Amino acid sequence: MKNIVILISGRGSNMEAIVRACTTESWDARVAAVVSNRPQAAGLAFANERGIATAVVDHKAYPTRDAFDAELAATIDRFAPDLIVLAGFMRLLTPAFIQRFHRRIVNIHPSLLPAFTGLDTHRRAIETGCKVAGATVHYVTEDLDNGPIVAQAIVPVLPGDTEATLSARVLSREHQMYPRAVQWIVQGLLREENGVVTHIGGESQLLT
Ligand code: GAR
Repeated sequence: MKNIVILISGRGSNMEAIVRACTTESWDARVAAVVSNRPQAAGLAFANERGIATAVVDHKAYPTRDAFDAELAATIDRFAPDLIVLAGFMRLLTPAFIQRFHRRIVNIHPSLLPAFTGLDTHRRAIETGCKVAGATVHYVTEDLDNGPIVAQAIVPVLPGDTEATLSARVLSREHQMYPRAVQWIVQGLLREENGVVTHIGGESQLLT
């Protein structure tokens, strides 16, 4: 049974989607803990209701990124994680943290990477005149929003779209894609070669 630790900063809707899929599809894995860097993160209530262990490591209480990440790592280690899932976790992680959990951290980013790393992805996609947008699940490396790609989901950018309408369209795809990608990882169904991740069973890593 693999242990998944999910890191959130806010709403936690992707975390919810993963928790639900893990239970209803009887994965050989469990969400061992949900950890937030914000005490008021809405997603913590859902995890508590489900009987999932929760922890808060408030970044404001630490003088440096290194100190915060050291405490975050110690907290996560209590749950013997096989996989750390960043689900709307809005903190940059230090190289020391990323090296400590090498290839055991996965993230979802609301753009078609390598386009639009960083923040405000939907606004930037609309302002650029993109006709497609989407989200990417990727392994976390020291290179921000640039690790090996596990899966991508695409949606159209429609005339008249606002940041709100586009982000809602992308988010509903994220909820389908992220549980699938996490399940592949915990089942050991992915292979990585030269930075390219493929599904060993040939399942499509593109959600349209
Ligand atoms: C999601 O859209 C996710 O892709 C994005 O934050 C949202 C979290 O929503 N992540 C990032 O921007 C990471 N850089 P959620 O808390 O409801 O899952």
